[in-house]
Amino acid sequence: MKKIAFIGGGVMGTALSTSACRGIDPSEVIVTDIVKEKAQKLAEDLGCVYVETNEEAVTGAEYLLFAVKPQFLKGVLDGVKPAFEACRDRGEKKVIISIAAGVEVQTYYDVLGLSREELSVIRILPNTACLIGKGFTIIEQRDTYTKEQEDEFKYILRESGGFESLPPNMFTAGCILTSTSPCIIAMFANSLADGAVYNGLLRPQARKLALEGINCAIQLFLSGDKHLEQYKDEVCSPGGPAMYAVKELEDRGFRSSVINAVKVAYERFDTIGKIK
Ligand SMILES: NC(=O)c1ccc[n+]([C@@H]2O[C@H](COP(=O)([O-])OP(=O)(O)OC[C@H]3O[C@@H](n4cnc5c(N)ncnc54)[C@H](OP(=O)(O)O)[C@@H]3O)[C@@H](O)[C@H]2O)c1
Repeated sequence: MKKIAFIGGGVMGTALSTSACRGIDPSEVIVTDIVKEKAQKLAEDLGCVYVETNEEAVTGAEYLLFAVKPQFLKGVLDGVKPAFEACRDRGEKKVIISIAAGVEVQTYYDVLGLSREELSVIRILPNTACLIGKGFTIIEQRDTYTKEQEDEFKYILRESGGFESLPPNMFTAGCILTSTSPCIIAMFANSLADGAVYNGLLRPQARKLALEGINCAIQLFLSGDKHLEQYKDEVCSPGGPAMYAVKELEDRGFRSSVINAVKVAYERFDTIGKIK
């Protein structure tokens, strides 16, 4: 029995299987995808094991990570239900790692028709930076898995970056920050670069300096626990350019735009995973 299988080799399946192959022996890692060539290429790149079907993946590993879009998840789970039942009948307990946005742990028990004694489910939300080991994964605190299973899963994926465990009532709020940040920061960084291009900088330098500026600021912010507004105040000298920039952003509703973006993303998160 292999340690972990990834069902779906898209953005997250690639990022997380890459992390797993850095953390444990790639011979312990299985990948599969509906597009055979995609999973074969991934397995070849990582030196891990390719299997052709989702059933083989379920049968072949202890930890199972379904990296398919939430709207396809029910179909995928329906397809592997007999494989889960056969494993259950052999006394093998599987651990599902759920990364599907908005999908509750109960969904896996309902669709697969298994009890908590027969199946463990760890619900997490990783982000795309896992690919380079700089990701951050939120884990939902539940009684559907043991401490040993959580520790082992974190060990397998330790090369993906950091972890934070949150109670169910805070899980979504935490997930929204880590999963939408890459998108919001990418838009923000490109807007900074656009401003610099407007001011006469060439695009490659504008991109580089916008990202370096953000990176330096983040490193500084993470180095202590000062209130974030203090950093703003320290940069805003009286009548200086930064204060002019702050006034412009405030006039155009910068803060409320960001707050509302986080709010609507939160509201959407819980509805997309509703499986019919
Ligand atoms: N992207 C993110 O930033 C992010 C962050 C956190 C969590 N997630 C969660 O991660 C999950 C995967 O998202 P993603 O962005 O990685 O999606 P993705 O890039 O579309 O990858 C999904 C992969 O699964 C394949 N697939 C579809 N149906 C399948 C089936 N029946 N059997 C096996 N493989 C199948 C897809 O093939 P085709 O391309 O041919 O359809 C695709 O390669 C989602 O549930 C999402 O909520 C994503």
